[in-house]
Amino acid sequence: MNSKKQILVTGGAGFIGSHTVVALIEAGYQPIIVDTFENAYQFIIDGIEKITSIKPKVYQIDCCDLEAFNTVFEENNIEGVIHFAAYKAVGGSYETPLEYYSNNINTTINLLRLMKTHRVDHLVFSSSATVYGDPIKIPVDENESIKPALSPYGNTKQICEEIIQDTSKVEYPFHSTLLRYFNPIGAHESGIIGELPIGKPNNLVPYITQALSGKVAKLSLYGNDYDTPDGTCVRDYIHVLDLADAHLKALSQLLKGREKLVDIINLGSGTGTSVLELITNYEEATNLKVPFEFAPRRQGDVAVLYADPSKAKKELNWKVKYNIKDALSHSWKWQEYANVKLKDCE
Ligand code: WQD
Repeated sequence: MNSKKQILVTGGAGFIGSHTVVALIEAGYQPIIVDTFENAYQFIIDGIEKITSIKPKVYQIDCCDLEAFNTVFEENNIEGVIHFAAYKAVGGSYETPLEYYSNNINTTINLLRLMKTHRVDHLVFSSSATVYGDPIKIPVDENESIKPALSPYGNTKQICEEIIQDTSKVEYPFHSTLLRYFNPIGAHESGIIGELPIGKPNNLVPYITQALSGKVAKLSLYGNDYDTPDGTCVRDYIHVLDLADAHLKALSQLLKGREKLVDIINLGSGTGTSVLELITNYEEATNLKVPFEFAPRRQGDVAVLYADPSKAKKELNWKVKYNIKDALSHSWKWQEYANVKLKDCE
């Protein structure tokens, strides 16, 4: 048991945040959620309570509001932080770059200021494999060079990583682990929480579930002329439950008192799957036919990106437990549940 150590989870009502909150509760922690709910619904919190029988403490505030954010630290005894709060749509970041830079960077700067003021020493940061750009070596390990960002979203992740590393070396020697996700997919096996982008989805799987739910006519498959076996892009799709487990292992390693100030770890399955293969897997997992048409390539897409997960295994004793079909059947179960919940919200 973790004798109810209080863990701050910014963006804890979001996709990966909510699944990590469930995992924290089940591991005996007391998560404290901070979220604006601009990209999440209140029924996600109800879902967390339904799964765990515990209603997590929630502050509906913006981490960009330093004064409001400070009250969270004043009113609790926070021992660690998992920082998810950020805008994360690659496409959206091309449309409103200033919003992305302002939000994603100011939330992180405010968090680091408050960690220093309140002497909180442990931080797990939600980063992204997008910092690698078009990788030189596949599969991608943590020695892969950081490339010029392909999107403002990716650039905010690179900048936040640098801010965390610079701050922990000089300002205040806190310990952090930067987790670089590949492609998170799936939902909780109960189907009660999952990925619910507000408005137009950006990522492949929510687009497939919306096409299957008839919310969009069909999926546009961006490009089938890449230098890959079937011409479509290859990615490393990782179940959100595996991702949540990795966050717990990273947090636990920090709380045990890791020596190194900053560590960087890739989170992926180590398997590359093409867009067409994912669609086939979806159809096999759900017995449904995905309506799609080929469309021109999308700006910023790289042909192949999948992880070498050996460092996560070595440092965190972590590897994926779920496969793609698990993730896709869980995501469809969640979509059916969410369609009903969203009708109630209308
Ligand atoms: C995957 C593949 C698309 C939508 C980004 C970020 C990463 C992470 C995940 C936040 C690509 C194709 C997609 C569609 C399609 N972000 N696709 N039709 O771009 O690999 O990664 O999202 O956590 O940091 O970089 O993910 O799901 O957008 O695209 O054909 O309607 O699916 O072209 O090949 P991506 P994605």
